[in-house]
Amino acid sequence: MKVGYVQLEPRFGEVEGNINRALSLMEDNDADLFVLPELFNTGYIFTSRKELDELAEEIPQGKTAKALAKFSQRRGISLVAGIAERSQEGLFNSAILVSPSGVKGVYRKVHLFSQEKRFFSPGKEGFAVWDVGGVKIGLMVCFDWIFPEVARILALKGAEVICHPANLVLPWCPEAMVTRAVENRVFVVTANRIGREKRGGRELRFTGESQIVAPGGKILLRASPDREEVGIADIEPSISKDKAVTGENDLFSDRRPDLYHQLVGR
Ligand code: ACM
Repeated sequence: MKVGYVQLEPRFGEVEGNINRALSLMEDNDADLFVLPELFNTGYIFTSRKELDELAEEIPQGKTAKALAKFSQRRGISLVAGIAERSQEGLFNSAILVSPSGVKGVYRKVHLFSQEKRFFSPGKEGFAVWDVGGVKIGLMVCFDWIFPEVARILALKGAEVICHPANLVLPWCPEAMVTRAVENRVFVVTANRIGREKRGGRELRFTGESQIVAPGGKILLRASPDREEVGIADIEPSISKDKAVTGENDLFSDRRPDLYHQLVGR
């Protein structure tokens, strides 16, 4: 299976231009599954809830989901993308999984970062894994990386490949995701954005370095910090079913949930 990240620089509010840029980067490359950054179609720094409400889209009726579904169907491939979602329940920082038959799954970001809390609602549905052509795909979004429970739950649910749209600004995530891959023995594809955004008196620089990491922690590909680029690796997802660390240690059966009650205590 060929999996790829699409690292790009969205322009705030230029939804059609951002969609077209992502489509043209994917058009020129060949993968079975592409991962695009968080909020790839809208940009990141919203200055009001009204602005977010205007740019957010319904799934699957919105133009971004429709454009991605059309591309996915025409090319016979799957993709994961971060978009702002408007729904009856609120406004969410979501990731969608699109397959040739349409939108297959939606994950609403649970752990909102910094000022995102002013505008988005946190997802309440938790974490899910979908089957795409016999491969189990788990979704998480950006700051979810700092909560190891997310990748663990996805792995326990059978994820073989974790897709991770991101708009990273802190420096630690690329190395942390190597650890997530090692401690769960899964593939991880992080698609981060690049560039700067300056809006409403705030300025952020996004760190690039999108990457694909194998279950043993090997970094198969890592992108530059500052260029738009696509990276594609040929992987064998089923190797992530093997949770053995040594002949005597298995990541799942060696766990001691009977001693982990603080993890779910209030
Ligand atoms: C982030 O969650 N966008 C840092």
